[in-house]
Amino acid sequence: MKIPFIQVADISKTFRDAKRGREVTALDHVSLDLDRNEFLCLLGPSGCGKSTLLNMIAGFEFPTTGTVHVGGVKVERPGEQRGMVFQQANLMPWLPVWENVAFSLKLRGKGAKERREVARKFIEMVGLQGFENHYPFELSGGMSQRVGIARALLMNPEVILMDEPFAALDSQTKLEMQEELVDIWQHQRGTIVFVTHSVDEALILGTKVAVMTYRPGKIRELIPLDLPRPRDVTSPEFNELKRHILALIREESERARAEVLAERAAAAR
Ligand SMILES: Nc1ncnc2c1ncn2[C@@H]1O[C@H](COP(=O)(O)OP(=O)(O)O)[C@@H](O)[C@H]1O
Ligand SMILES: [Mg+2]
Repeated sequence: MKIPFIQVADISKTFRDAKRGREVTALDHVSLDLDRNEFLCLLGPSGCGKSTLLNMIAGFEFPTTGTVHVGGVKVERPGEQRGMVFQQANLMPWLPVWENVAFSLKLRGKGAKERREVARKFIEMVGLQGFENHYPFELSGGMSQRVGIARALLMNPEVILMDEPFAALDSQTKLEMQEELVDIWQHQRGTIVFVTHSVDEALILGTKVAVMTYRPGKIRELIPLDLPRPRDVTSPEFNELKRHILALIREESERARAEVLAERAAAAR
């Protein structure tokens, strides 16, 4: 039997909500198998556990029950095999672009000449040539995200985990970045798990979309996308899928709203 490259096996995650003095089940018996070179988009309403699931694949958080394996190895800590890109690039403001991109090489004791050379390749890959010596405060939001992506790519990870990396960008920059990310993924290959709350973004990027339920988070539906690339957002197939996914999300959001109202009513009693 073939072992899936990423194997999330029946994980649940409970957090202690100290403010309300109770337990919150963020994820409830989630299972997910993913092959190499897939581009999975995790889609769901805010608070449904997308980041929690991603952080468990990264090794930043651990399931209360269940296991995560990547490449047949149980995830017990972060590792270079799994690169992470966050919503904010979190660059080191005192270092120029190239030093930020190559920081992991510094940690491995590589000299400046080598770091600069390796960094150049990845800076070019994300379209930032000419900005090697700029400092983070001189960059736009989109450029900072490019630096964050270059930094993750430089570690040559087998998996890139992205937590709403384009959410803070203006819509034009977002479209450009989506296009470039697909381009990089098609050329470099590798497995991407990409969290988003945008249906369009998921449909533009993914080979699969996992739609999650509101708390406790489960995978409501795993949808394979065999739309041709570049994705045509005006095509009937695209819009058919979009309609279907929006209906699922609407149901989940309504459930969320009802739950919040019920909680408020209970608290007022
Ligand atoms: N460290 C934590 N401590 C307590 N509760 C948490 C923690 N992290 C996440 N949660 C809760 O778990 C649920 C899922 O959170 P999260 O994974 O961040 O959702 P999403 O990324 O889909 O918006 C939320 O109800 C959130 O409040
Ligand atoms: Mg999140």
